[in-house]
This record gives sequence, structure tokens and C-alpha cells, in this order.
Amino acid sequence: MIKAIKKIIFIFCGNKLSNFQGINNNQGIKMKYGHFDDQKREYVITRPDTPLPWINYLGTEHYFGIISNTAGGYSFYQDARLRRLTRYRYNNIPMDSNGRYLYIKDGDTVWNPMWKPMRVPLDKYECRHGLGYTKITGEKNGLEVSALYFVPIGARNEVWHVEVKNNSNDKKNIRMWSFVEWCLWEAYDDMTNFQRNYSTGQVEIENGTIFHITEYRERRNHYGYFACSEKVSGYDSSRDAFVGLHYGLDAPRAVIEGECRNSTAYGWLPIGVHQIDIELKPGESKKINFILGYAENPPEEKYLPDGKIRKDEFFNVREKFLSSENVEKSFEELKSYWDKLLSVYHAETANEHVNRMVNVWNQYQCMVTFNMSRSASLYESGIGRGMGYRDSNQDVLGFVHMIPERARQRILDIASTQLSDGTCYHQYQPLTKKGNADIGGGFNDDPLWLILSTSAYIRETGDTTILDEKIGYADKPDSDATLMDHLHLSLNYTLNNRGPHGLPLIGHADWNDCLNLNCFSTTPGESFQLAGHIENDRIAESVMIAGLFCRACEEMAGILNFIGKKNEADDYKKKAAEMRDVIYKHGWDGEWFLRAYDSYGEKVGSKENKEGKIFIESQGWSILGGTGLENGHALKALDSVKEYLATPNGIILQQPAYSTYYPHLGEISSYPPGYKENAGIFTHNNTWIQIAETIVGRGDRAFEYYLSICPSKKEEQIDIYRSEPYVYSQMTAGKDAPTYGEAKNSWLTGTAAWSFVSVSQYILGIRPDFDGLVIDPCIPSEWKELKVQRKFRNAVYNITIKNPSGINKGVKKITLDGKEIQGNKLPVLNDGIEHEALVVLEK
Ligand code: GLC
Ligand code: GLC
Repeated sequence: MIKAIKKIIFIFCGNKLSNFQGINNNQGIKMKYGHFDDQKREYVITRPDTPLPWINYLGTEHYFGIISNTAGGYSFYQDARLRRLTRYRYNNIPMDSNGRYLYIKDGDTVWNPMWKPMRVPLDKYECRHGLGYTKITGEKNGLEVSALYFVPIGARNEVWHVEVKNNSNDKKNIRMWSFVEWCLWEAYDDMTNFQRNYSTGQVEIENGTIFHITEYRERRNHYGYFACSEKVSGYDSSRDAFVGLHYGLDAPRAVIEGECRNSTAYGWLPIGVHQIDIELKPGESKKINFILGYAENPPEEKYLPDGKIRKDEFFNVREKFLSSENVEKSFEELKSYWDKLLSVYHAETANEHVNRMVNVWNQYQCMVTFNMSRSASLYESGIGRGMGYRDSNQDVLGFVHMIPERARQRILDIASTQLSDGTCYHQYQPLTKKGNADIGGGFNDDPLWLILSTSAYIRETGDTTILDEKIGYADKPDSDATLMDHLHLSLNYTLNNRGPHGLPLIGHADWNDCLNLNCFSTTPGESFQLAGHIENDRIAESVMIAGLFCRACEEMAGILNFIGKKNEADDYKKKAAEMRDVIYKHGWDGEWFLRAYDSYGEKVGSKENKEGKIFIESQGWSILGGTGLENGHALKALDSVKEYLATPNGIILQQPAYSTYYPHLGEISSYPPGYKENAGIFTHNNTWIQIAETIVGRGDRAFEYYLSICPSKKEEQIDIYRSEPYVYSQMTAGKDAPTYGEAKNSWLTGTAAWSFVSVSQYILGIRPDFDGLVIDPCIPSEWKELKVQRKFRNAVYNITIKNPSGINKGVKKITLDGKEIQGNKLPVLNDGIEHEALVVLEK
């Protein structure tokens, strides 16, 4: 019996997958699930059953979607929680359920070109994830169907550009169905409030277009639409009619029976389905376009005089995007948009992983994290977190060179969620831009990140007018406070909130959300951060914040010097030096920097501890803040990192892992050893160590660390790694986990921005400064040459760096347009033309 079942499974799966077994890419390297197409800037997935759904993002500014390699995912306008267009099923069986599907009926065979949801074996499958688009192609019985999904620049709709091709020798009459399921706008309510929601859904159907108008009759002035370029032979808008109450998307009744019901949803579960009949001669092909979008009317103009919904916006979009010619043109626009963004920074090095990551995928991920913060991914449900204060400030660091104006606005939005006492709302919703009261503030690192993002913006652009922008405070929106006031306030907040050793108080947590030294939570399910503090929460201190403070003071001094306020600048430099003394006195453990003091005043991250003896964050930030450079502590701390934390898959957050839950340490000890903050490899903080290694001049080691977490490099062990090899994941399981080396929480992580900063500014060493472009590479000794093209303040710098004697670091000589310059900073030229810089490294 068991044998027979096994045989059936084998036949089923064996057939299904035999066509997808491995591929050979141009270099002849065998890789299992796909490969990079560097020329086209695409990742090509060659079998649909990837180890995890491998996703991509659609949209650049207002309208967004996530899309997996089998077309799973959802769309939203601006805010993944408050304006959700389509429904997704997180945590379903199978994973990644619901999406932008097409069903094909060709003779007796019914199938999906994207493999899911029916999972009928395909003869050919390919998914190309590109920059802001995904193209999925499936072929069966001589019929090839491809769907290119993207959001045109500036639009609030997406386009599905579908091509159907008859590769067989026979005439084909096929029937095709499109499918989306509407979300009733508020994604959290949509998942929970069925007693109301089963009675609110409404649609309107006009000439084959399905308008989703739930709640338009009351307080909403927006609607969704799903339209098709072809004349439809049927449609459905009721899920029960199309799918059948007791059936799934892998066998919708209407598809199986071959005929739509022409249903009009009233309450229950509205969907959008078009039925299209296509006749194709051998060799013939046909293009069909779908548009799925969001439209809004001014509240007083919701209806036409005859009582119908005003649909002008939809008509405009239809005009624009239902013709293939226009669609193809707007797709080209999307490509040029990315050409332009990626032309700001382009490097050519001796390493293909660096080239593809730094020039394409890492920058692309920076755009995505800038847009999404930590809100919508396969792991972030879009209903939990909006924009994070510390996260979004850090995201700016990797994005600012691409579109500085958007970074500028973001910095001001973030700053306006700071309160007048210096604390900051930890999160805010992108739609309302208002701080999230449920979470509030009290994460004591938050205020300081604003100085880093502002400084990065000014170093990139030279624009100091941002400092004078009046933004008020979250609790006093009408106050005259400028961004500059916020920066001073942030530094003073740290200065005024210090503990018994003079180190900054940690609050709910610092960068490490899970080091919760004041909460002592013992109630299952409650938030570790918000559990409520013990009576005296002014004892627990953070060495990491101390280091970050020093760095923020230096950045602030840079800003102040740039605007001619030398005395104030010196004052902050003095404060940084004083804090460094405190770190030397109370934050040094002998071989590395301590991590914190807990609320009993006991050390955390010390050789005296039984577990959690050494942490990564305070090593990184102490050194980034300039601590330990003159007395050897920095080198010693980094050697300890190497000895106790580094693995071939990246650097572990702390060691030894916590083996049990410690209420006085909080969430960090809640995870099984090797996961997340409990001794996982948290890639974000790995980048700080990379940078620290370049600061002390060890380019080989910095690069070794860079490669150890480099996604593209993970193709070599993809069955262990499992996540997308084209973007960073937040975490790789550490060596205490049986799943060591497996990555999780891909896409939305500060690793994106910080990796770009690390590799572009510190390893390759081209760093925007207030008054020029610093050239300070710290590279592997085996690199003989590297080239970087950098657009900076309205000039183009073509930089060639030569390393004749194979060193790591040390600029000996720079010639700019043939003339030798002093120092290692290229001046601001601002003349709109190209300049040649030749840099020689030498001891
Ligand atoms: C998550 C959070 C980030 C935090 C990190 C470490 O990535 O988004 O804010 O710093 O975890 O806990
Ligand atoms: C959990 C995660 C952490 C994340 C936090 C956000 O604590 O471990 O990474 O930053 O949730 O609230």
C-alpha cells in the first residue's frame, strides 16, 4: 500500500518536476533554481518550486505590490494596511496563496502559466524578476503564455501585459480567465471582522470592467477597478459563484466547468474575473492587457448628477494603458527610470558578486526598503508595522543618492513624529504620517538616527536649507521648531538621560529591539517592549547607544562646521570625547566592549556572564563612534569578534546563546538559540563590523565579512540558504540552530542600506562629504584596480583606483583631470561635465 502511494507521488511529482531539473547558465555553472542575468538586470528563476516563495516588488512611489515567482502577492495604494487592494493569505497551506492569476483552458487541459494555484505540470517555466517588474512565462502543449507585471511610473495602477502564443502546428481555441480577490480596504479589519464584512462588499460591472466599490456609499471616496483590453465572453465578481464555497483556487468550479457565472457580488467576497476567448493559428500570438488600479475622487465630487460613481480617473487610465503600444512604451520608461537611478553610482571591481550587488540589486533593495520600511513583505503582514523611526532613518542612508528630494521629505516626515521632550514615536502610518500611539516612544536610540540621516542628506546634496524647515513636534505641531532644533534636542535627549555610569539609558530597547532590560515580562503573549517598566528604569544603560551618540556628535559637528558654527561644533566634539572616556571607563571588558548594564547594574556582554558574553553591536558602534582607535581597543575588539562571533555565513549577534528565558533580559532570550537576536546572524549589524574593519584598515577581513553575507554568493548553497539570492535577508540562522545557514525575513531589513554604505563608501571608499567626495578605499589586497563612476552635485567623477603593490588602504596620490590634488577629497565641481580622477594606493 505505502509502496503504491509512493509510486503515485513519484509519478506525479516526478513528471511535474522533470522539466525543471537544473539549468546551465552561460558560465556553465550548475545552479538549481535560477541564475542572474546581469546584462538584463534580472534574476531568472527556472523552476517554480523554489525553497521559499521568491518575491519581488512592483511600484516606485504611490502604488505598490509584492509578487512571488508564481504570481502570489497583493497590491495596495500607499499604505499596506489602510488601502489594501487585493487580499493575500499569510500563513496558509500552501504558502503564498492568492495573487494575480491567469487560468487557461486549452482543449481539455486547464492550467496556470504561473504554475500556481493549480500546479499542473508545465512544459516550460520561467520567472524573471527585474527592477520594478516581474515576467512569468509558462508553456504547455504548444501554448506559451507570458505575463509581464509592472506599475507604470507615477501611476496608481498596475498593468498585466499578457502574450499568448501558439507554438504548435494546430489551430487553437483557448479560453482564458483572469483572477484577483478584492480586499475590503482595511487589511486588518478584513481579516477579522467577518460579522460586518460579509455584508459590506459591493461591486459595479460596466463593459466587462469590475469596479470594487465597497464602502464608497459611505465614507470612502476611492474605488478599485480591474479591466481588460479584450471583449469578454463572461465575468465573475462573486467568489462563491466562481470558485465554489467548498473549493479552492486550485480547482475553481467555473474554470473546471468551463464557464463564468456572470455574477454580481453583494456582500460576501468580491473578486474580479474576466473570461476571454482567443483563437490562434499555428505560430500566431496575441497581446492582452489588464489594468488593476486605485482611483480617488474629491469627497464633494464622488457622484455624477445621475447618481453614478464618477469614473474619470479610470477612463484616463484605460485610455493610457489598455493599448499594447502604450504599455510597452511605459515599460520602457520604467527601464530608463532605473537606468538613471543606477547611473549615480556604478562600480567595476574584480569581483562579480560585488559588481552585481552594488550596481543593481543592493541599490534596488534600498529603494524597496525606503518605500516599505518594515511594512509589507512575505514576513511583514502590512498590518503590523508602518514606518519605523530608526528603520526609516537608516533606510535613507542607502537611498539618498538616488532621489535626494524624496529623502528630504522623508527626513522631515520622520522628524515631525518626534515629541517636544525628545522622545520619538517608534512607528508611524505612511498614509496619515501620524505617530502610532499603541507603541509610543521610549526606544532610546531612536532620536539619534535622525542626525545620521540628515547628515547623509546634506553630504550628498550640500542643501542646508533642510535644517531651517519648520516641522513642529508631534505633540506641538504648531510650534516653530526647525529640523535643526530637532537635531539638538535629540543629542540633548541622550545627554539628559544617562544612568549611574554616565552611559545612556536604554529605555524599552536600543537598536536591538529584543534587549529589554526594564520590562521583566512574564505574561505570555504580551509585547516584550511594552510590557511596562519596573519601578526604577533609570539604571539599565546601553554601550551601543553611547557609541552611536559619539558618531552622531561627529556628524552633527560636521553639519555645524559646514554652516559656519564652529563653536557649537567643537562643543559636540567635546561631548563625544567625554562619552568615549565613559566608554573606556565603564564600557570596556578587557577584550571587547561591554553591551549594557542591566537594571540591577550588572554587566551584559561581559566575560563575567555565563551566556551572552560578547555582543556584536557595541563593537561596531564604539568603533564607528571613534572609540578605541588610539589605544588599541578597536583592534582587540575586532579580533574578539573574529574569534568568538564570526562564521562562514556571517557574524553572530552574541555568544554564547541564551539557553533559557531571562525576564531581566527580555525578548532576546525568548528565541530558540541561533535564531533572531538570540545568537542569529543578524546581517544588519554585520555591516557595522565591515565598516569598523575598514576604519582600522583591514580590507581583506572587511571583504571576507562582506562576502560571508552576500546574497549572490549564496547561490552556491541555496538549498541551505533558501531565501532569495538577490536581496539581503534580515537573518541567517546561527550555528546554535540545527538550521544553521538558513536565511529568513528577506527584503525589508536595514542590511540593504548599510551594506550599500559599507561597500560603496567604506570598502570601495567613495564617500560624499560636506565639501567634496572623499576617496578612501579599503579593499582586498589582491585587487589591482577598480573603477567607480559617481555623479555628485552636478558633476560626474570617473574614478580609477590603482593598487600596484597590493595593499588594503592608503591613498598616495590623486590626479584630477591630469592635475595632482592635495589630500584625498575631490572638490565639488558642479559644472555638469565628466571628470577623470586617477588614484594610486601605496604605503
Ligand atoms: C528589526 C527591526 C529593527 C531592529 C532590529 C533588531 O529588524 O526592524 O528596528 O533594530 O530588528 O532588533
Ligand atoms: C521582534 C523581532 C525584532 C523586531 C521586533 C519588532 O522583537 O525579534 O527583530 O525588531 O519584533 O517589534
